[in-house]
Amino acid sequence: MDIKFTKTLAKSADTIILPVYEGDKALKLTAAALDATTLKFIETRAAKSKSFKAKHGATYTVNLPDNAEASRAILLGLGKAEDLSPVKAQDAGGKLQAMLKGSDAGDIHVLIETEHKTNTVAESELAANLAYGMTLRAYTFDLYKSKKKDDESANTAISTAFVLDAHKAAQDTYTPLSHVAEGVFAARNFVNEPPNALYPESYANAIKDQLKPLGVSVEILDEKKMLKMGMGAIMAVGQGSERQPRMVIMKWNGGAKSKAPLMLVGKGVTFDTGGISIKPGAGMDEMKMDMGGSAAVVGTMKAIALRKSKANVVAIVGLAENMPSHNAYRPGDIVKSYSGKTIEVLNTDAEGRLVLADCLTYGQEIAKPDAIIDLATLTGAIMVALGHEYCGSFVNDDTLWSRMESASTRTGEKLWRMPLDEVFKKDMEGSFGDLQNLGKSGRFAGACTAAGFLEHFINDGTAWAHMDIAGTAWIKSERATVPKFGTGFGVRVLNDLIAEYYE
Ligand code: BES
Ligand code: MN
Ligand code: ZN
Repeated sequence: MDIKFTKTLAKSADTIILPVYEGDKALKLTAAALDATTLKFIETRAAKSKSFKAKHGATYTVNLPDNAEASRAILLGLGKAEDLSPVKAQDAGGKLQAMLKGSDAGDIHVLIETEHKTNTVAESELAANLAYGMTLRAYTFDLYKSKKKDDESANTAISTAFVLDAHKAAQDTYTPLSHVAEGVFAARNFVNEPPNALYPESYANAIKDQLKPLGVSVEILDEKKMLKMGMGAIMAVGQGSERQPRMVIMKWNGGAKSKAPLMLVGKGVTFDTGGISIKPGAGMDEMKMDMGGSAAVVGTMKAIALRKSKANVVAIVGLAENMPSHNAYRPGDIVKSYSGKTIEVLNTDAEGRLVLADCLTYGQEIAKPDAIIDLATLTGAIMVALGHEYCGSFVNDDTLWSRMESASTRTGEKLWRMPLDEVFKKDMEGSFGDLQNLGKSGRFAGACTAAGFLEHFINDGTAWAHMDIAGTAWIKSERATVPKFGTGFGVRVLNDLIAEYYE
């Protein structure tokens, strides 16, 4: 999507967009050189509408006379000026983009009002965040369609220009946001890739191809290396597959050497059949998204590298395919994790925690992180608890949680704090091994016992957060651009947390 910020309205506009606030009597378009008669025409038409009240995200289209500056004007409701926030502006931009999709919008000019007295968001911020919301919503994934849609039905905007006095400031605000969008798209692309194309080896190589040119150091551990090192947990998960596991270590050193890094860890199960404890067939295709945690981590690394962050961040993703076969690990197997702790496998479908265990141990060994945040599509139980709206977050440190919470508010990626408790941790102690991968309380508190399992692999005194994104990494609803889709959840909130507290 081609986005520009300019001072004047070009002659060639097909569609002009007028973001308007609820309750406003007249449009104040001092910045935009829109003819007074055109403006009057639009205002008169809009006033005739029985339903358009400029509520947040609502739109109203006015076809313009032949001699006007554009073919049509679309009023975009922003809601009450005092309620607007950058996230709400993004949301409105997204709604606008969704409405434009499939329409013959052509060249778009968004005319930003100036001198709005009750406006809580500066014009430049409004423009940049509308643009960001539009960009995120314009995403599609049609790599595997052999025929591209014909132009007539697919035509959305050809280019979008935001017209405002503070166009330079708007561009400066938008540029880093566009970098975050690139990170979100990278994450979505990885999630949407089919599991026959994206498997541990190909995924590891793709990560390297994308991040290395941006100055991120990328190291790949292959199966031989991991076996030799004693990473028995991740190796057990992947042993049933022809496509052997990988671990990828990424480092971005934007800050002083003395500054302890933030560590990100991601679950990258490229396909989760459940293994010998096989899943039911219906909807199993969706288990290609079981690498969503790793995708969010890689997307975040991309975003911070693009915006040349001054933070030090180390990221580790564990990649494995969970398949049933004559080589597969079994319920009853006892495996030895990289930490030395033995784990009795009671269900081969509780594989994510095994993958994460070795990543967490190795991560703490190679870096002394300031804090660790892991992301994983770990449990169906978190979806039962929080649905698709909130990511369940288990955090052992109040400072880290308050940072996450404010990053969540600023980005609109919703987090909900969930309990860590000695009881859940103890529930994962094993009878034949040190640990077991299923809670003794069965399916009750399944997301909490999974977190309790991970806690066994966190060194004492280390600030740590576990984000269970099983419900948020993937959308399957009418809200999505297509029925099933990777969301890239996590990139925005992590990037914001890094920008705010590590730079
Ligand atoms: N990848 C799944 C969790 C999941 C479920 C993600 C649905 C996204 C949507 C995970 O590996 C899994 O299978 N978890 C089991 C754990 C159980 C066996 C303790 C689950 O949640 O049922
Ligand atoms: Mn599973
Ligand atoms: Zn899984």
